[in-house]
Amino acid sequence: MSDEIIDRSRPGEIEKRAVKAITEADTVDALEEERIRYLGRKGEITELLRSVGRMPVEERPALGNIINNVKRRIEELLETRLEQLASEVQEEVPFPGDPTLPGRSGWQGGPHILHKVLRDVKRIFFGMGYSLAEGPDVELDYYNFEALNFPPDHPSRDLQDTFYINRDILLRTQTSPVQVRYMEKHEPPLRIISPGRVYRNESPDPSHASEFYQMEGLYVDTDVSLGDLRNDVTFFIRSFFGMDAKVRFRPHFFPFPEPSAEVDMSCFGCKGSGCQICGKAGWIEIMGAGMVHPHVFRYAGYDPDAYTGFAFGMGIERIAMLKYGIDDIRRFLANDLRFLRQFWTESWAGVVE
Ligand code: DAH
Repeated sequence: MSDEIIDRSRPGEIEKRAVKAITEADTVDALEEERIRYLGRKGEITELLRSVGRMPVEERPALGNIINNVKRRIEELLETRLEQLASEVQEEVPFPGDPTLPGRSGWQGGPHILHKVLRDVKRIFFGMGYSLAEGPDVELDYYNFEALNFPPDHPSRDLQDTFYINRDILLRTQTSPVQVRYMEKHEPPLRIISPGRVYRNESPDPSHASEFYQMEGLYVDTDVSLGDLRNDVTFFIRSFFGMDAKVRFRPHFFPFPEPSAEVDMSCFGCKGSGCQICGKAGWIEIMGAGMVHPHVFRYAGYDPDAYTGFAFGMGIERIAMLKYGIDDIRRFLANDLRFLRQFWTESWAGVVE
């Protein structure tokens, strides 16, 4: 046992070394190493305390006391030095910026330009007494073509234009099928608009996209005239583009209205004298329209001798492009924030309705 007797000067010697090492430790890691060296499971103080048990009984209390005092001193020193080092570390990293600048506000999106145009178009027609009707994007050939008086060999049915799912089912190429769907379920008088997405098997270019929006309009009653069509269409065009717009109907063929026409408005760029917007024509084509064909009434289950009606259809991207000077239809779906942001001039309030 005698070789295990602790030299009474040993605690003091350890303390001296520890104080020096701790004071000189200049990183948190170095300090931790010192803690382990003296107070760790196999640390010098820990070992020393352990060997107290092997000392003569009468010496144990005094020796234990001395070693515990050294231990406490080292613990205190370690703590103080750690605080010092921690505050030095903070001082080394200055606040990254000017704390007096105002903070950044949260990132906020805005309504898509098409959403806003659709809202404006809808508001104009709601004001004229139209209500909203909807139909499916995945449509039957029957509603998209047959009931709209498209003969079986009509070129619009060609695979070039239509995405067929099978022989009878397709992605609608126009919003006109909603006319027949709505008439099947409702009796005149009726006045509806039906905006929605349509699909065409087109190669994309600045004025063609394989999916875009159209809006159909339909008014049926006992004596609806071409004059009524002209009236509503003109009111819409003037409300949307400006009160000085002139409107003209140009004969054109569509299978489901008779007579049918394309509607032009006077160019807002040049007021009719010819510019880039209108391709020097002075007029801009806005929509297709006409009086509902008796065949379509029959398909819908209406008596064509009892009712008359008009219908019209327009491309929403097209009128948005004209009004806001957008040069390429593909921009609407490209999700380029630089483009979209230009139109975030108002908050969402009132846009989602
Ligand atoms: N659906 C036609 C198109 O996609 C547009 C159209 C023309 C709609 C005449 C109509 C109409 O309601 O009467 O080109």
